Amino acid sequence: MKNILITGGCGYLGSHCAVKLIEKGYKVIIVDNLSNSDSSIIDKITKITKSKVIFYKGDIRDNKLVDKIFFQNKVDSIFHFSGLKSISESIKYPIKYYSSNVEGTINLLRAMESHNVNKIIFSSSATVYGNNYKLPWHEELCPLLPNNPYADTKLTIEKILQALSKSKILFKIGILRYFNPAGCHSSGLIGDNLENKNNLFPSILRVIMKRDKYLNIYGNNYDTKDGSGIRDYIHVNDLIEGHLKAFNYINNHDGYHLWNLGMGKGLSVYEIINVFEEKIGKKINTKIKPKREGDIAQFWSSTIKAKRELLWEPEKNIKDMVEDSVYYLQKSYNYKIFN
Ligand code: NAD
Ligand code: UFG
Repeated sequence: MKNILITGGCGYLGSHCAVKLIEKGYKVIIVDNLSNSDSSIIDKITKITKSKVIFYKGDIRDNKLVDKIFFQNKVDSIFHFSGLKSISESIKYPIKYYSSNVEGTINLLRAMESHNVNKIIFSSSATVYGNNYKLPWHEELCPLLPNNPYADTKLTIEKILQALSKSKILFKIGILRYFNPAGCHSSGLIGDNLENKNNLFPSILRVIMKRDKYLNIYGNNYDTKDGSGIRDYIHVNDLIEGHLKAFNYINNHDGYHLWNLGMGKGLSVYEIINVFEEKIGKKINTKIKPKREGDIAQFWSSTIKAKRELLWEPEKNIKDMVEDSVYYLQKSYNYKIFN
């Protein structure tokens, strides 16, 4: 049984990955500073998998802690999810973003080097691509022109990883450029943090639960089919399945490899709202707000490379993402669908 260290394993994507890896027979070690999550996730992972998880509460920038984790566990590979993820917040607080994302990753890589751990799967983002390139965004055709500090932290980390792949140590690196993950685990026990006021899905869920009165629509005059922003939403299960395929790939291929993980098609904010309204049988109140700084009108993924090299294809659709999200509200927040 191999030991996998998951950074940010209490977060939305890391917790889903932890469940999947445990189900596949790996032993999981999580490090998380709980800046965007809480430790109750560990109990939920244990409840779903009926297995123990080793948890370290702390920051990946903490040298001593990271070394301790490597000393105390025979870490075979890293799934590196930890990081800050809001584009608009990164514009306001760039140092916070460069520190947590870039400095944190450098510290992790330093520890990997000194403890002879050479496999890493890294959570990158579609935001590394240039805004104006024709759609869909393809890994080998689209220029890399990040337009905000968050995206730049991701590209900087990709470059560091690429440099490492040419260093004297034999690294095996998988970069995954996520589009927009949504939905949650079929148990309804884990999902995106509803305190996350940034992303669309948790914001819609807060309105459904009546925690917020309105869903803010950030811009209704984009040059898109209905004026709202268009993104490529991908079910978290499919996304995590992509991680396992990528992990398998790097186990068999040295060096640096990267793939988009998306559905390959875009949906607008209004289209997402419609699917939710159909599911709950009620209207979702909205308010038009100015465009968010750093947001762009629309993008979606080319899925060709992941299909070809990883033999990976998403299986779930937008209805599944919405249904699972509403089920999460019912199971984890006691929401009654017809009240
Ligand atoms: P999340 O905020 O739910 O999870 C990240 C976790 O990392 C949190 O639990 C947080 O407490 C922890 N963390 C943050 N900084 C840390 C640090 N310095 N040390 C230790 N722990 C730290 O986010 P997520 O949605 O699960 O995203 C995971 C990764 O995927 C992030 O790197 C994010 O940038 C990337 N990503 C996410 C999306 C998305 O829409 N969710 C899209 C593209 C890329
Ligand atoms: N939106 C709203 N109202 C909200 C939240 C979002 O109208 O309350 C709109 C946004 O303007 C955008 C779309 O919904 O058009 C999606 O916004 P999200 O904040 O959910 O997602 P982003 O595309 O801005 O960013 C997310 C992650 C990034 C990641 C990126 C990759 O937050 O970390 O997806 O595509 F890099």
